Amino acid sequence: MPAEGDVAALWPWCIDIARRRRQGLRPVDADLPLSWSPTQGYALQHGWDHEARALFALLKPLLDRRGDDADWTVGQLGQSLDGCIATHCGDSCFVNGPEGLVHLHRLRALCDAVIVGASTVCLDDPQLTTRRVPGDNATRVVLDPSLRVPATSRVFTDGLAPTLLVCDAAHRTRAETRLGAAHVIALPRHPALGDRLSLPEVVGALRERGLRLLFVEGGGVTVSQFVHQRCLDRLHLIVAPVVIGAGQPGLQVRRSDAMGDALRPPARTFALGGDVLWDLDLSPAQRPVSN
Ligand SMILES: NC(=O)c1ccc[n+]([C@@H]2O[C@H](COP(=O)([O-])OP(=O)(O)OC[C@H]3O[C@@H](n4cnc5c(N)ncnc54)[C@H](OP(=O)(O)O)[C@@H]3O)[C@@H](O)[C@H]2O)c1
Repeated sequence: MPAEGDVAALWPWCIDIARRRRQGLRPVDADLPLSWSPTQGYALQHGWDHEARALFALLKPLLDRRGDDADWTVGQLGQSLDGCIATHCGDSCFVNGPEGLVHLHRLRALCDAVIVGASTVCLDDPQLTTRRVPGDNATRVVLDPSLRVPATSRVFTDGLAPTLLVCDAAHRTRAETRLGAAHVIALPRHPALGDRLSLPEVVGALRERGLRLLFVEGGGVTVSQFVHQRCLDRLHLIVAPVVIGAGQPGLQVRRSDAMGDALRPPARTFALGGDVLWDLDLSPAQRPVSN
């Protein structure tokens, strides 16, 4: 039984698991407060409080990634009751309460890369570092096909973590001149995808760089593209009890004519302060054949 069975005592174990995975080390040994087995993955021993057990249950799908299962992608959107992730002017500080923000930083700390779309960097100039919990910074990845994100943005200038820029192959030279070839992934646009980048190709390029556990932080267009192109295994939708009204839309997927065609993935809920986190399983095994 751990001396302190709370979230503060559990979190360092989660960080340790993430570091072991990145370094290809063995999982923790069985006599520790967390046990591991090849079939069941990680399990908590007795003595943890309710909050720690809930956090562990939420994070277990990430913590269990290793070996061939380490290639995995989780997305998040913090949204209002009416499905908005920001006001119509782009203000998203803050849709969710402090617990939702802590959760965001936990995902950054556990994943190898944190991915955002061009509009989020243009509007918010985020750092995308791990600050609200102890933990490592992920590699920052900006999807900016047309190079419209200012070179002065903090992700490109603050030096706090590596940053990769993903752009249209037509802009490779300009991007490499700006950031250096090692920081640029240049890929073709695909007419069949509405002239967007292929996210399986983006994910493949990140995996070639050793970035296997991916976190798509937003915004709505980017997360929706990951869902549409079937590149998300999980989606954490964090719903706050607030109504924004005609704001920036969150998840937008293909329209269903009949309820039977609607996307209805296996779901779990978790309380995050006054918000509710919906943990949606979008993994291939859960996708309807016709979807
Ligand atoms: N509440 C939250 O959880 C949350 C999280 C993050 C951001 N936000 C807010 O969300 C707003 C921005 O979100 P947004 O939905 O408007 O935009 P976004 O997702 O941040 O960025 C969208 C842009 O990224 C590029 N992009 C993404 N996927 C692509 C693909 N597959 N191929 C090519 N380009 C791709 C495109 O750039 P181009 O337009 O140049 O082609 C696209 O228009 C901001 O107000 C921000 O504050 C909220």
